[in-house]
Amino acid sequence: MNDEAKRTNGQTIPNGMLEDNYPRNMWWVAAHRDELTTKPLARWLLETPVVLYRLEDGTPAALYDRCPHRWAPLSEGHVEGDKIICPYHGMEFNKAGRCTKAPTQHMRPKTAEIPSFAVREAGAYVWIWMGDQDAIDCDPPEVEYQSDPGWAPVHGYYEVAANWVLIRENVLDLTHIAFLHKDTFKQDDWITAPDTYMDGETICYEQEFDLAPLSPLFCAGMGLPEDKPIKRVQKGRMPSLAISFSDWNVHDPAPEEGHRSDFIVRGCHIVTPAQRGKTHYFWMAAFDVPSLTDVVAEKTRASVTAAFDEDKHLLEKLQASVAADPRGLDFLEVTLGADGAGIKVRQILNKKLKAEGRSLQRQ
Ligand code: FES
Ligand SMILES: [Fe+2]
Repeated sequence: MNDEAKRTNGQTIPNGMLEDNYPRNMWWVAAHRDELTTKPLARWLLETPVVLYRLEDGTPAALYDRCPHRWAPLSEGHVEGDKIICPYHGMEFNKAGRCTKAPTQHMRPKTAEIPSFAVREAGAYVWIWMGDQDAIDCDPPEVEYQSDPGWAPVHGYYEVAANWVLIRENVLDLTHIAFLHKDTFKQDDWITAPDTYMDGETICYEQEFDLAPLSPLFCAGMGLPEDKPIKRVQKGRMPSLAISFSDWNVHDPAPEEGHRSDFIVRGCHIVTPAQRGKTHYFWMAAFDVPSLTDVVAEKTRASVTAAFDEDKHLLEKLQASVAADPRGLDFLEVTLGADGAGIKVRQILNKKLKAEGRSLQRQ
């Protein structure tokens, strides 16, 4: 069979992985809150160069990272009070992007104004709305445990050379854990599809497992031996295309005397489109164990990173291969029973784009 004969109609529901497939009118994460200081931070977000910084009172601000004089990146400049100063000829801009001073002349150029973006700090992250600034109709999703002292979070960041939707589908596609991560997660019983359902606009899944050893990634955080059979309920939800959660609800049926029997580790997966084919991926694993030691946190961070390296490697290969293939998305794509949550992601994505008057190519 030659290549032409193998061609089909491509994706039934397109995910737009080769296009600018990100909705504009929604909150995306711009940075972890610790990254933002009065020193400007340059970051590509939604194929736009953005400079992020904090004002004198600590409030985050975001501007298009391009001076309207001769296009120097403002992120190479510095912040003075509530103004950001261009490094090239010293023009000053306020948080609304308006030039307040051009030191080489008396008059400030009245047309010198660059786009500013709404930013909100919520929990551990700073969120940005890059689309129509008049269309903001909600707050960023709540991530309440991030600042709750009852939880111990471990977090990390990757830049992944793959479209954001591949990561979003990946973190809601759970059966890959038993295969791609067989040497890291070692949770080899996760080979059947969870129940997936919608709660309003939120994608949810739930799945109960019989007694089995828990993934060693999380044993240290819960103080459980790696070979001890425990019960677990996996629950997940995606309240926004930008963020999803995966909870490991663990029950030890035979705890040692004085030990807890129930624990939760909550995974948090955040994706933000960067440049074409590149994505910021912020992750967090939070244990409902306030006494997590630095040693255990570091061990958890190292083992979670080893597992996510496997996703990054595979998704980058996948993206590069499809992008280089002249057939693009015009290739057979089979959907399995376990792809229920991923299909819902595509449905929500297409609906959101339609609301913005856009649609993805269906090759
Ligand atoms: S390029 Fe910014 S002041 Fe000239
Ligand atoms: Fe994975």
